[in-house]
Amino acid sequence: MLKQVLRLLMAALVVSIPYVAAAAERAARVVDPVKAWDNHFKTWAVVGVAVYLIVTVPLIYFVIKYRRKHKDENGAYIVGNTGLEILWTILPMITIIMLGVQSWAVFNDLREVPKDHVEVKAIGFMFGFEMYTPEGIMTLNEMRVPVGNVKVNLTSKDVIHNFALPTFRTREDMVPGENTYLWFAAKEPGEYPVYCAEFCGAGHSSMLAKVIVMKKDDYEAWVKSKKSESMTAATTPEGKGKELVERLGCLGCHGIAGEVKAGPAINGIMGKTEELEDGTKVVVDEAFIKEKIANPKAKPIKGFGHMMPPTMLANEEYEAITAYLKTTK
Ligand code: CUA
Repeated sequence: MLKQVLRLLMAALVVSIPYVAAAAERAARVVDPVKAWDNHFKTWAVVGVAVYLIVTVPLIYFVIKYRRKHKDENGAYIVGNTGLEILWTILPMITIIMLGVQSWAVFNDLREVPKDHVEVKAIGFMFGFEMYTPEGIMTLNEMRVPVGNVKVNLTSKDVIHNFALPTFRTREDMVPGENTYLWFAAKEPGEYPVYCAEFCGAGHSSMLAKVIVMKKDDYEAWVKSKKSESMTAATTPEGKGKELVERLGCLGCHGIAGEVKAGPAINGIMGKTEELEDGTKVVVDEAFIKEKIANPKAKPIKGFGHMMPPTMLANEEYEAITAYLKTTK
């Protein structure tokens, strides 16, 4: 009996050897996390459905076949069947060991970043994503990367967000005060969606972004144009204001093309009349914008709650922002 069990245990281990070997020889093969994840999902789905049917179909059959037909009928007294007992102990054990080892191999694929990769950064905030290229270029809700493997270092400025890339079958929490990461294989140029997959407040559903995968040449050209753009932009107040509005994360909650997010849209807002929570009307001017940024809770605008965090800036920075807002329509 014991020998039999040991022999079956050995068989289970032998069955799982290819998976262990695959994980160990990882360096030598090209890892495709998308394929690994999809295969993983299919395996679990097939095994899950099979186990369900093996249990449920006989169950229903037996319930009907051996139901009590007369009031005084007694069931047969069955003591047990050693062969069956061993079978239904060993088979699930082999299945579970296989699934366990395979899961471990897939997990390794998803966590171990291949050596050749570019490293970028994404910071979550209420409500948006700041992305940084290896060259230090900041973009809002848009991550530009060249074709290839990408490691994304993650963190958050306020609460827990989750950086989710469904196309690349990966996601990871963005935790304030902690550094986490994920990686993905960007094979084809194109645009891929990014979602926040952790409920983080009223603007959670507007935390949408995209990964833009570019051909190497296109990416380098983009980096060049971005660098010269930021050098010229910093020389005018309007350019500086635009840069501030993007860098401070204002656009996470405020639309710049008329779209209402967690806060009102800010394009063309200068000179507009807004209604405050207490019903008074105010005309948006330089002083109002300055107060709104420094002490947003003092004059909440009707219908938008009290979510905006205060931000202290230098006087010329407030002026730069209003100068920029005047240029928007
Ligand atoms: Cu950030 Cu949900």
